[in-house]
Amino acid sequence: MVTVPSGSFSCHMTEHPILITGGTGKVGGRAAAQLRAKGVAVRVGSRSGEPRFDWEDESTWDAALAGVQKVFLVPHDGALLTRPFVRRAKELGVERVVLLSGRGADVPGYASEDGIAGKTHIDGEDAVRTSGLDFTVVRPAWFAQNFSEGFFRDAVLAGELRLPAGDGAAGFVDAEDIAAVAVAALTEDTHSGRTYELSGPSALTLTEVVELISQATGRTVRYVSLSEEDFIAELVAEGWPKADAQDYADSIGPIRRNMDSHLSDGVQTALGRPPRPFSQFVTEAGAAGAWREAE
Ligand SMILES: NC(=O)c1ccc[n+]([C@@H]2O[C@H](COP(=O)([O-])OP(=O)(O)OC[C@H]3O[C@@H](n4cnc5c(N)ncnc54)[C@H](OP(=O)(O)O)[C@@H]3O)[C@@H](O)[C@H]2O)c1
Repeated sequence: MVTVPSGSFSCHMTEHPILITGGTGKVGGRAAAQLRAKGVAVRVGSRSGEPRFDWEDESTWDAALAGVQKVFLVPHDGALLTRPFVRRAKELGVERVVLLSGRGADVPGYASEDGIAGKTHIDGEDAVRTSGLDFTVVRPAWFAQNFSEGFFRDAVLAGELRLPAGDGAAGFVDAEDIAAVAVAALTEDTHSGRTYELSGPSALTLTEVVELISQATGRTVRYVSLSEEDFIAELVAEGWPKADAQDYADSIGPIRRNMDSHLSDGVQTALGRPPRPFSQFVTEAGAAGAWREAE
């Protein structure tokens, strides 16, 4: 472990910045912006941050945690690092952890047993709950921003979203709302020990999603429902390792099996207001140029 030189974080030490791992990502980046807007000091945990934080390099953890009392923990999917990180955070004086988990972490059969994200969230939730720290767990449904900043964006730009989701619907939730719930849990004392299940206000099929994006952008986007086998074969033909293609297909499985169509009231419960509609996300993302191709 790195020894942090005394005084090197003196100005932050007095403010006790909130550490946000994944602080440059879809949810962490928004949580950082919302906290800063409230005048709260933030330390962004990122490989490009200062100090640099790399989940896969434990020697960077202590500097990121120095002087920190509260962490918004956006986990690193794939390796079970939440548990050792939380242990170290507690040793270094952290008192509160807000964990970004995922819908279905408590539902048998939701995620594949070998699924990277599922394993990360199941182990991460247990690590946080048994840590003895003040904690809140945030369990969002699929993010709306997957279509504008995440792994569906390229397909939207290409005009064809090819997924093994059948006619299933999902309660896509706006990352602004996920971040707002995390910020509330970090800055208010009434969310301790709570688990918030978050979804948007309606469940949408992929056909409905691409219609909304098409209407707002004037860009024609189709949804093509693939069998799981065809989906995996297409990804492998593009050069994906078979295991990664299977993992991606598995992550879509709950939509196809109709395990993602229910709505959750966590935004209303935590924030006292309804979640933002998907149509609002589409309008704002479009206006911000999310689907404008790089020139
Ligand atoms: N997408 C969904 O629909 C969905 C739904 C439910 C739950 N989730 C969960 O949400 C989490 C992902 O959150 P997100 O979508 O906000 O993230 P994201 O936008 O994909 O951003 C990933 C973040 O992780 C950081 N990161 C990546 N590798 C790193 C490393 N080795 N060390 C330190 N930081 C690293 C990146 O920072 P740098 O690149 O700057 O280092 C970035 O800030 C995952 O745990 C996922 O399972 C996702």
